[in-house]
Amino acid sequence: MVEGTGFENQRRGNLTVSSNLTSSAQTMKILAIETSCDETAIAILECGGALPLPTFKILGNSLMSQIHIHEKYGGVYPMLAKREHIKNLPILLDKTVKESGINVKDVDYVAVTAGPGLEPALWAGITFAEELGKKFNKPVLPINHMEGHLFSYLFDATTPLEFPAVALLVSGGHTELVLVNSFEDYKIIGRTKDDAVGEAFDKTARLLGLPYPGGPKISELAQTHRAKGEPSPFNFPRPMIKSNDYNFSYSGLKTAVLYTIKKLPELDPNTKEELAHSFEDAAIEPLVFKTQKAILEFLAKSLVVGGGVSANKYLRSELVRTAEEYQTSLFLPTQALTTDNAIMIGIAAYVRLITNREIESKTISAKGNLSL
Ligand code: KG4
Ligand code: ZN
Repeated sequence: MVEGTGFENQRRGNLTVSSNLTSSAQTMKILAIETSCDETAIAILECGGALPLPTFKILGNSLMSQIHIHEKYGGVYPMLAKREHIKNLPILLDKTVKESGINVKDVDYVAVTAGPGLEPALWAGITFAEELGKKFNKPVLPINHMEGHLFSYLFDATTPLEFPAVALLVSGGHTELVLVNSFEDYKIIGRTKDDAVGEAFDKTARLLGLPYPGGPKISELAQTHRAKGEPSPFNFPRPMIKSNDYNFSYSGLKTAVLYTIKKLPELDPNTKEELAHSFEDAAIEPLVFKTQKAILEFLAKSLVVGGGVSANKYLRSELVRTAEEYQTSLFLPTQALTTDNAIMIGIAAYVRLITNREIESKTISAKGNLSL
C-alpha cells in the first residue's frame, strides 16, 4: 500500500498527472523508452507497492543494439544513432505491445530518457514518446538516465536499502559516486574529471585491436590471465587515487597503455591478456578505493552499484569483498540490467512518481549533460 503520496490528479509543473495508484488499486503500467546512446529499448512494466521494496513485472521488453553499426568506427556516432533509433522505435513498440498482451491505451504513463546522453539520440526517443502520449492521451514523463542506473537494483531487490547509502555509477559516459540519503535526496560527491571508466575500457580495447564495446572483451582477457595465477605484469597509473576527494581520472590510463604498446615489439595474444589484466586492475582499483573511503566517511549502511561497467566480474567481486569488509549491504543490478535498457527507465519513473516529486513541464527537451 502506498500511503500519503497525495498522488491523484496532482499538478507537477505544467503537467497534470493522474494515477490509478489509489489505496484500492496499487498498480500502474508504465511504457518506458530509452534511446540515450546506442541501444533502442522499449519496455512495459507493471509497477506496484511502496518503497523500499516496490515490485516490477515485465509485461513486454525489447531492445535493439546498434553495436554492429558503430563497431567499425570504434565509438558511437550521434546522427547515425538517431537515424537507427527512429527506424527501430516503431518496430520495438509493435513487438513490446504484442508481447505484453495489452494496448498502449491501457498504460498509465509513458516514460522517456531525457538525458544525459547524445542529444540527437535522446531527441529520437522524446519525439516518439510525445507522439505516443498525444495519440493515446497519456502523460509523458522525462526521466534521468542515471536515475535509471541508480535504481536498476530495485528490479529484483529482496532486502530494503538502508540509508545513508553510497552509490557507484559506472558507465560509458559517467563515473560517479553518489551519496544517497533517501529515495528523494541524493547528491554526487565525486565524478570523473575526464574520461568515464567505460570509455577507458572502450578506448583501451581499440588499442588492443578488440571490437567495440571493449568492456566485456577486456574483462574476458583479464580474467583469463588472472585465472592463470600470474601477477599483473604492467604497472599502469592510478591517477587521483590519492586525491583528497571522490573524483576520478581515466584519460591518463589509456595514454599509458598506448605508450606501453608503442614500446612493445609485437602485440601477441599473451601480451594482450597481460595488458588487459594490468589495465583492468588499474581501472578498478580507484573505483573500489574511493567507494570504500566514502563508505567510511559517510558511515554508509548500503552500497548500490549501477551502469554498464557494473557488469564487470572483477569489479563485482571487489565490491562483494568491500561490502563484507565494511559491513554494508550490497545492491547490484541483475546482469541484464547493468547496460542500457528501458526497464530501468520505467523503474526510475515509478520511484519518482511514488516519492511524489516534481516532474518537469509539458514540453520535454533533450539534455545531453543532465545531472542527477
Ligand atoms: O551503461 P551503459 O550501457 O551505457 C552508458 O550509459 O554509457 O555502459 C556501457 C559501457 C561501455 O563502455 C562498455 O564497455 C562497458 O559499459 N561495459 C563493461 C562491461 N560490460 C559493459 N566494462 C567493463 N566490463 C564489462 N564486463
Ligand atoms: Zn547507461
